[in-house]
Amino acid sequence: MAQDLDPRRPLDTDADDDVQLRPRQMAEFIGQRTVVDNLRIFIQAARRRGEALDHVLLYGPPGLGKTTLANIVAAEMGTQLRSTSGPIIERKDDLAAILTDLKPGDVLFIDEVHRLNRVVEECLYPALEDRKIDIIIGEGPHAKSIKLEIAPFTLVGATTRAGMLSAPLRSRFGITQRLNFYSLDEMTAIVGRSAQILGCMVETGALEVVAGRSRGTPRIANRLLRRVRDIAEVMHEGRISAEIAAKALEMLEVDARGLDAQDRAFLGALVGKFGGGPVGLNTLAVSLSEDDDTLIDMVEPYLIQIGFLTRTPRGRVATAAAYEHLGLPPPARPADDSAPELFGFDDDPTAG
Ligand SMILES: Nc1ncnc2c1ncn2[C@@H]1O[C@H](COP(=O)(O)OP(=O)(O)O)[C@@H](O)[C@H]1O
Ligand SMILES: [Mg+2]
Repeated sequence: MAQDLDPRRPLDTDADDDVQLRPRQMAEFIGQRTVVDNLRIFIQAARRRGEALDHVLLYGPPGLGKTTLANIVAAEMGTQLRSTSGPIIERKDDLAAILTDLKPGDVLFIDEVHRLNRVVEECLYPALEDRKIDIIIGEGPHAKSIKLEIAPFTLVGATTRAGMLSAPLRSRFGITQRLNFYSLDEMTAIVGRSAQILGCMVETGALEVVAGRSRGTPRIANRLLRRVRDIAEVMHEGRISAEIAAKALEMLEVDARGLDAQDRAFLGALVGKFGGGPVGLNTLAVSLSEDDDTLIDMVEPYLIQIGFLTRTPRGRVATAAAYEHLGLPPPARPADDSAPELFGFDDDPTAG
């Protein structure tokens, strides 16, 4: 698949993201009921007290709406969003510059917050707790440390790996919310909304086809919808029927369960080369010429969600359902005898 067609290409910046399709307000944000309801209450309470909202940690697989929610939080608080990401803040000074520039009530969004380096992270603690930051002025024997006050602000951290956050950082978020894959109904509503914004001519059943093959992930749905629209324009006078949608998704190598070439290569290697597992993640990654992070963030969560993959202490294991999907007889020894692990704090996806 060409790089620019890969719907799960990791996004380092928002420049790549679909600004046009991104919900701007809570009311436009579909699904994630618990998260939305909780945030609404906390935002309302903070606004009533005239205070900054407590620090928020959003975690879950890529493309589910973490960046979108951070923007919405700032909008609903009526404040400004300052956006950065863990790996971009290299030195203490970079962080100090960002923090001292914040206005009262601002939302500071740090994407990939698990990738902050140790020094920067430690410098962030007093800012989160006491709204103070220590900075060193001068050098050598004349250097002195001074404390600077910073405006009351809200940190919104986003991560695909809550388990990789250090305990001290994690404990400084007063609000922690996990985003889950979307249901088929929610995905259908999301595709419908996007289709309307893009002015697509959609026929009955087509939304469900795209929704059902988007791996419960709005970012994937939006990318697939655009490609389906391209194909419909060239082959079907722009009308997106259920048949055209299904055909277009086949052309994009997305199968009936929404798995793409990368997912199938993963399952193919697990089953074909390693007898269905258990096999260590790193061994799998090497055999696929992928890096561990890509598999952990982009491939595994959905396969686990639909019950095709389990993580065991001894490694990754393909389930009977995965064999069935691949059109293969399940292995003689049941491979899926261990309970799937949940995606959460105590989860160490690098184990095994
Ligand atoms: N709940 C939602 N309703 C409608 N569209 C959504 C929703 N969540 C995400 N999207 C769409 O998916 C895209 C990716 O979401 P984003 O917030 O960037 O995900 P993340 O930061 O978790 O990787 C957004 O640009 C937006 O268009
Ligand atoms: Mg994001």
